[in-house]
Amino acid sequence: MNKNYFKIKKAIMSIYKIKDLEHYFKMYKKSVRQPKKFWDRIADENFTWYQKWDKVLDFDMQEANFTWFKNAKLNITKNCIDRHLSTRGSKTAIIFEPNNPEEEARHISYRELYEEVSKMANVLRDKGVAKGDRVCIYLPMIPELAISILACARIGAIHSVVFAGFSSTAIAARINDSECKLVVTSDGSFRGNKSIDLKGIVDEALESTPCVEKVLVVKRTCSDIKMKEGRDEWLQPLLDNAIPNCVAEIMDAEDPLFILYTSGSTGKPKGMVHTTAGYMVFTAYTFQNVFNYEENDVYWCTADIGWITGHSYILYGPLLNGATTIIFEGVPSYPDYSRFWEVIEKHNVSQFYTAPTAIRALAKESLDFVQPFQLDSLKVIGSVGEPINEEAWHWYNDHVGGKKCPLVDTWWQTETGGIMISPIPFVTPTKPTYASLPIPGIQPVLMDELRNEIVGNQVTGSLCIKFPWPAMARTIWGDHQRYKETYFSAFPGKYFTGDGALRDEVGYYRITGRVDDVIIVSGHNLGTAPIEDAINEHPAVAESAVVGFPHDVKGNALYAFVILKEVGESRLQENLEKEINQAISNQIGPIAKMDKIQFVSNLPKTRSGKIMRRILRKIAEGDFSSFGDISTLLNPEIVEEIIEGKK
Ligand code: WTA
Repeated sequence: MNKNYFKIKKAIMSIYKIKDLEHYFKMYKKSVRQPKKFWDRIADENFTWYQKWDKVLDFDMQEANFTWFKNAKLNITKNCIDRHLSTRGSKTAIIFEPNNPEEEARHISYRELYEEVSKMANVLRDKGVAKGDRVCIYLPMIPELAISILACARIGAIHSVVFAGFSSTAIAARINDSECKLVVTSDGSFRGNKSIDLKGIVDEALESTPCVEKVLVVKRTCSDIKMKEGRDEWLQPLLDNAIPNCVAEIMDAEDPLFILYTSGSTGKPKGMVHTTAGYMVFTAYTFQNVFNYEENDVYWCTADIGWITGHSYILYGPLLNGATTIIFEGVPSYPDYSRFWEVIEKHNVSQFYTAPTAIRALAKESLDFVQPFQLDSLKVIGSVGEPINEEAWHWYNDHVGGKKCPLVDTWWQTETGGIMISPIPFVTPTKPTYASLPIPGIQPVLMDELRNEIVGNQVTGSLCIKFPWPAMARTIWGDHQRYKETYFSAFPGKYFTGDGALRDEVGYYRITGRVDDVIIVSGHNLGTAPIEDAINEHPAVAESAVVGFPHDVKGNALYAFVILKEVGESRLQENLEKEINQAISNQIGPIAKMDKIQFVSNLPKTRSGKIMRRILRKIAEGDFSSFGDISTLLNPEIVEEIIEGKK
């Protein structure tokens, strides 16, 4: 053996895996001084490529153009699956934990995953799906969801997963926007004690999606569904006849891997496009460091794969590291509030990653749901999706982490592809409610209203990132201009996150929340504009404004101020409220329903006709004390009237 082997091996470990705080700062400095060299080495040493890159990075922040690992060739599934086969073939890649605890969990090894993905990839190819085609996946949290995603990646098709809680209108809009050719769905889904007719919802969506040629249906609930001749087919018989080997498509580093839609503060959802190599390198690197994954650990992230957290940290990040990852079909409250803790005990979970909204909901219940369970297997616990309040942080830290597991509060976004700011467990001292320090390679800055960078500590501002990172979204599907305007124009030369943040005396970041019109409800990002559009479609409604107000479980709840066309309509208020919520459910999904609807005669507007939402937010919150400067209001008297109406 080459006598330098151990030296080299140690060096590889030391750049990929952060060891201690000193090492972190050393890596961080390196990553800022020589970002290209930093990522070059990580990419070079930890993945398999058909061909390496000519250049690590080319970019133009003004035009929002980014190329990482130029001209490299790879297939991400080779890195997620094939390369583990010789050493981890019989290791469990995925544990499927069904909704009903009585149903047996399923363990899928890397070898089986290879075969299942290959079969699915062959089925897709057989149905005419080729490299670059878009495939919509609308499935519950079952293994077929992971397999379909990886199968797309295997053949170079672009997956567009739509969270299986979205309505038919929302699915149709997403399918049409990216012109998906094929849809993978299931007869239905189980959620707690409910079963949902997914196929019926898809059928309705497909009435207005001319681009869809084929629908493949997974059998899950065995419910009675309609199959459209020539379009719909059951998946299982096709898989049974498929070959369990599939040559992976050779992809360019910048070929799109997937599209994932996220709410914007205005208009239609944005199809964020993630590409292959940069996304792979960054999700793998962050997974390893943020969760400190070790070979025999069992990792569990409770998010839905329909969101970015599931894409990056249930599937790609863990599989790229040869990890065992859990796919959980159920909900935290079924059959009772001990479900999470029971699963941790049952599968000896080492890393547990969930959302503050789940923590708050569980913290409200008796400790008797937690205490009987052995949570000793846990090493790291994580939080994502919204700011975690101090109370929830402590409850999670004390009762789940047993005060011995580092709690990683991870800040990132659909657009960033991977975790950007987070403690590194056993390295970064944690501080409640603080996402703490940036991951090496990430350069956060705080900006003031005059677009100047705020230097020093103990400051607050708009959170921007001033240098590209490998997993950043490359564009909005079909609308690069919108991408540029949304993210790169507010602070020229920088990526604007839409979040506000503070930096404390030692340089730790705390995310304070959205500074735009996106409201995070139970961890779901909802743009106010599409909800208002849905409300305004009700024939009795003239205009509406939606704001968020604090809610102790959901983080934020939704409040709509609605102007009716005819004043007399208010007598039918209760029915109207129901109808409005139904309209929202139909357009977007039940997640966007209002907690409170108030009918008003007008809305506070500026002279230029802009609704002054800050006033409505205060009213919704029940804080009538100070509205700040309302001198620019065209109709200041309306404020009193709305307050009276609320009381
Ligand atoms: C918020 C989820 C505070 C933030 C991965 C961000 C957070 C938005 C945190 C992105 C956190 C996410 N602390 N806020 N640890 N993590 N957010 O696209 O407002 O679903 O901009 O991605 O969630 O939500 P998205």
